[in-house]
Amino acid sequence: MKLFDVYPLFNVNIVKGKGCHVWDDQGNEYLDLYGGHAVISIGHAHPHYVECISKQVATLGFYSNSVINKLQQQLAERLGKACGYDDYSLFLINSGAEANENALKLASFHTGRTRVVSINKAFHGRTSLAVEATDNPKIIAPINANGHITYLPMNDIAAMEAELAKGDVCAVIIEGVQGVGGIRIPTDDYLLALREACTKYGTVLILDEIQSGYGRTGKFFAHQYSGIRPDMITVAKGIGNGFPMAGVLISPMFKAVYGQLGTTFGGNHLACSAALAVLDVFEQEHLVENAAKVGNFLLEQLQQVKGIKEVRGKGLMIGLEFEEPIKELRLRLLHEQHVFTGASGTNVLRLLPPLCLSMDEAKTFIDKLNKVL
Ligand SMILES: Cc1ncc(COP(=O)(O)O)c(C=O)c1O
Repeated sequence: MKLFDVYPLFNVNIVKGKGCHVWDDQGNEYLDLYGGHAVISIGHAHPHYVECISKQVATLGFYSNSVINKLQQQLAERLGKACGYDDYSLFLINSGAEANENALKLASFHTGRTRVVSINKAFHGRTSLAVEATDNPKIIAPINANGHITYLPMNDIAAMEAELAKGDVCAVIIEGVQGVGGIRIPTDDYLLALREACTKYGTVLILDEIQSGYGRTGKFFAHQYSGIRPDMITVAKGIGNGFPMAGVLISPMFKAVYGQLGTTFGGNHLACSAALAVLDVFEQEHLVENAAKVGNFLLEQLQQVKGIKEVRGKGLMIGLEFEEPIKELRLRLLHEQHVFTGASGTNVLRLLPPLCLSMDEAKTFIDKLNKVL
């Protein structure tokens, strides 16, 4: 059997990682400014993480959601404290798309409505409703195009008010910072007005913090810069540092109903031990603070680099927009300078490093970028 060929691959076989570095099968070392697509939060192969999941898999890797799982309870308690939402409840699943799928489903159960407002250029995943809420017709199959979604421009509160005033919108879903869409940031004023409008019209506000959350922007969640509290927050990527896991943080206004949501693998013992190890390292190494410090340094320094049209971002979620397509630049960074970066569309280079990136590593990246520009 061959692999189903849906990924255009770089010709690199990564076999080892440590902190913010990875190595290929030829022994070449790379600086990782991509974090495997914002997934690596505490760094590759962190010793505490390795120890925790190794011990857990040797004890109990999995049992079903029909029995008490103390690790899930510990995770809910620890995460609630770490992010400032200890009055919310946690539902655990395995991927970002599943988190958004469940959040939208719960919003619909709660309101009895079926319409959803999403934002131009949004990315929310590739399953049923999550992909319908994603503003990219190329990945919406005919079976997913069910007319639930209205896309509106980001930061246009008048357009949002007009749509919500119709009184039939179940949920608004919005990224804390748009990732795939090119590192686009909703303004604080927009989020505050959006919060107010959702409350006024009985619409559920869902913040997708799958890429922008878990400390990446220098606060636990990007929306916390605005001070709003959404009705649901979806998380994935950094929560397990590479172990597949995701969650929906659910406000107390939602009533849990036995059997309404469920999953076989979500919140399994091994996933929870990974997520608990991640939170240990966040505390011990002050990684949210580090993302703010090193991210601000990078954002400042990148403003001085010649040849970049615009630098956008918060903390360690950074987009560099160029006049011309960045495909060649990205390949040169990878093959000549041994630096992994991401992309958004054709002209934006995206930086999503592990949150443990040091000042020296940030400086090394600037030097390497200058060499290829
Ligand atoms: C903002 C956002 N939401 C949802 C997803 C989907 O997550 P997953 O690929 O884990 O389903 C992603 C993935 O890139 C994302 O960036």
